Amino acid sequence: METAKLTLRGKEYDLPVSEGTEGEVSIDIAALRSKSGAITMDPGYGNTGSCSSAITFIDGEQGILRYRGYAIEELAEKSTFIEVAYLLIYGQLPNTTELSSFKDTVTRHSLIHEDLRKMIEMYPSSAHPMGVLSAMISSLTAFYPAENYNSNVETNIARLIAKIQTISAFFYKRSVGQPRVYPRNDLSYTGNLLNMMFSVPSENYHVSAILEDALDKLLILHADHEQNCSTSTVRMVGSSHANIFATMSAGIDALWGPLHGGANQEVITMLEHIRDDGQDYKKYMELAKNKNSGFKLMGFGHRVYKNFDPRAKILKAAADRVLNTLGIQDPLLDIAQNLERIALEDSYFVERKLYPNVDFYSGIIYKAMGIPISMFTVMFAIGRLPGWIAQWKELTSESNLRIYRPRQVYTGENVRPYIPIEQR
Ligand code: SDX
Repeated sequence: METAKLTLRGKEYDLPVSEGTEGEVSIDIAALRSKSGAITMDPGYGNTGSCSSAITFIDGEQGILRYRGYAIEELAEKSTFIEVAYLLIYGQLPNTTELSSFKDTVTRHSLIHEDLRKMIEMYPSSAHPMGVLSAMISSLTAFYPAENYNSNVETNIARLIAKIQTISAFFYKRSVGQPRVYPRNDLSYTGNLLNMMFSVPSENYHVSAILEDALDKLLILHADHEQNCSTSTVRMVGSSHANIFATMSAGIDALWGPLHGGANQEVITMLEHIRDDGQDYKKYMELAKNKNSGFKLMGFGHRVYKNFDPRAKILKAAADRVLNTLGIQDPLLDIAQNLERIALEDSYFVERKLYPNVDFYSGIIYKAMGIPISMFTVMFAIGRLPGWIAQWKELTSESNLRIYRPRQVYTGENVRPYIPIEQR
């Protein structure tokens, strides 16, 4: 057993060292506190592994992203979202029978209970869709009560993947004052989502193959990303043996944050602001470099990718393709490409390795597809759900699953006597 030596206050401790299948080295500190009384400190967990996982591998320096060993570039080009969902959750690419059965099961669960539909329709049309989605996913427990956290897992997995898009589309229709459109069993997963969102009774809506392919690619690219903020939240909540619906609802809430999944919405808001400010993108590049400005270049930077986000590279090509095919001239794309060009040359960004991330181009594609900005993070959640489910399944399958309970270093007051109010 390889070990790492730690010397602390004159004592030496041997800590076990292990290595993953891609050569990642970790130091096991599980016994450190009991042996030395000390804990480690790593605010934001930037250097701390919470688990071993066989689902997704990222190499931030090389810009590598693989789901169950398959390169994201191959999956984006050759697979489909529903097949990638199966791969992430069950660990292997499905054969024809397995894929057909999985698709059929998901399709069969795409309807939501009419009482859930009524709950969606009780929300103000101006409500943010992520708040509605989180509440409705958690509310699935009212219709499918789980005796315990791992009962009826396979059916609940299908229910979640199927119903997240119906819930999302139903509320979208409410937000634009149009009648809801029920799911159709003859459409693909992504085609169903587009149809539920954009078809209207007065028109014979046809799902565009270009948009169906672009959206399917977007969902594939968002499907998992190892232990990011929302996935770590899912593991945290899942470790308490909360049921799968409550656990996924927590993931949605974490993803909503503008520094995480909410960034795609913020990217467009930022680009529109720059457009309305005379397209003066150089001014905003300078603001982004000024700590006191409070302005961040949304869609840039990443905790892990320190050269490029492979998803951004794929999405940049997809954005060009979608806009060219649809004949859309979007000044926001021009501004985005100017921001990217400058960032790739400017020392502030180069030194800090701040490159476009997945959110930088996804918002532009969603916008070109007619998806409203308030629904961008919902699309991210629909894509990320299979990843959350796969990570939750891996966590809850552990024989020695323990509730997550990090430690802290207390920096508050030392013990002091209570003082009656008249003496304060
Ligand atoms: C996602 O983890 C995942 O996998 C997430 C995700 C996934 O698929 O799940 O990939 C999805 O969340 C992508 C990230 C989307 N968020 C944004 O685009 C928001 C803008 N980006 C930043 O908020 C930031 O880059 C983060 C949050 C993404 C990463 O933050 P870190 O790793 O904590 O980096 P940091 O804040 O420590 O920044 C390091 C330096 C700082 O400057 P110095 O103190 O060293 O002088 O870079 C600066 C920061 O001020 N910096 C930026 C910046 N991001 C970092 N400066 C200007 N604009 C930015 N966007």
